[in-house]
Amino acid sequence: MTLTNPYTRDSYDVSERVFAQRDAEAMPELAGELPNLSEYDTILIGTPVWNDSMANPIIGYLEQTDFDGKTASLFWTYITNDGTTERDFSEQTQNAQIADGLSLRSANGISDDEMDQMLRNWLNKVIG
Ligand SMILES: Cc1cc2nc3c(=O)[nH]c(=O)nc-3n(C[C@H](O)[C@H](O)[C@H](O)COP(=O)(O)O)c2cc1C
Repeated sequence: MTLTNPYTRDSYDVSERVFAQRDAEAMPELAGELPNLSEYDTILIGTPVWNDSMANPIIGYLEQTDFDGKTASLFWTYITNDGTTERDFSEQTQNAQIADGLSLRSANGISDDEMDQMLRNWLNKVIG
């Protein structure tokens, strides 16, 4: 998924735009076709945390997607504070059954082996 009007590389600039888009309830326009989910039972969605929640393009994607009959699980990266990301995902993912998510805090500084184990545990839980 890409954006019609991409963000800049300046995180202060992005942060302001993120707040403004949320205030206006106007998420950025997604370019091209959205993924076809018809052949999948479980959908894994990844996002960085932006201003205490999911990144705005992901919020916009959820607004436009019906997950009826599907299981959805979120994995998210952040530095120190993930705010209401997990709860917002549960509330905004339309008609999905929500499976356990995976919180990835970069400040934890875990080893590759630990990361590997975390991913395996999560995937075993979510997709078996
Ligand atoms: C606009 C913006 C807002 C962010 N807000 C948060 C935040 O609320 N909490 C946090 O811990 N990290 C925050 N971050 C840091 C990102 O979550 C972090 O850079 C990202 O998860 C790592 O992915 P990346 O390597 O793609 O940047 C923010 C970053 C940006 C650009």
